[in-house]
Amino acid sequence: MLNMFSKIVVPYDNSELSKKALDTAITLAKQDEGILLDVITVINPNYAAYRYGVYSIDPIHKAQLEEAKKMLKDLEQKLSELPNQANTHLFEGSPGASIIDFVNSEQADLVVMGSRGLSGLKEVFLGSVSHYVVQKSPCPVFIVK
Ligand SMILES: Nc1ncnc2c1ncn2[C@@H]1O[C@H](COP(=O)(O)OP(=O)(O)OP(=O)(O)O)[C@@H](O)[C@H]1O
Ligand SMILES: [Mg+2]
Repeated sequence: MLNMFSKIVVPYDNSELSKKALDTAITLAKQDEGILLDVITVINPNYAAYRYGVYSIDPIHKAQLEEAKKMLKDLEQKLSELPNQANTHLFEGSPGASIIDFVNSEQADLVVMGSRGLSGLKEVFLGSVSHYVVQKSPCPVFIVK
């Protein structure tokens, strides 16, 4: 069963559910040290500009990059305790499309992600990123809730 999932991708936005998704992926990876783990974070400068209501995105973009790099550094520390090969990746652009591009190019065979992320809206079960990934992914998607 676990041999079916030898390359696992975890889309990570630092939300509680993405932390839970990463812990789930780590638990799976611990079953077999041949399982590869890729944690990916996508920053979307346009979204930040919209959210903060400013048009000059440079300082925010820079802050976002710094924050994401720091977050991934902390994760690398945690991942380095595993015997498995585990890497982190930082992309810029639309989160859903970037995640799907990565899954396709790496030929991953499982995605583990949260049902919701950083947005406070709770009325719908899936956020826009998890909804997009479930629809477009060529491989199974494990939704943590
Ligand atoms: N920028 C991102 N980079 C990587 N993974 C992400 C990113 N945003 C979300 N995810 C992944 O998608 C899961 C669901 O988050 P999503 O963004 O879809 O929900 P939301 O933030 O509650 O709603 P929305 O963003 O649509 O307002 C997260 O738990 C995380 O695993
Ligand atoms: Mg979100």
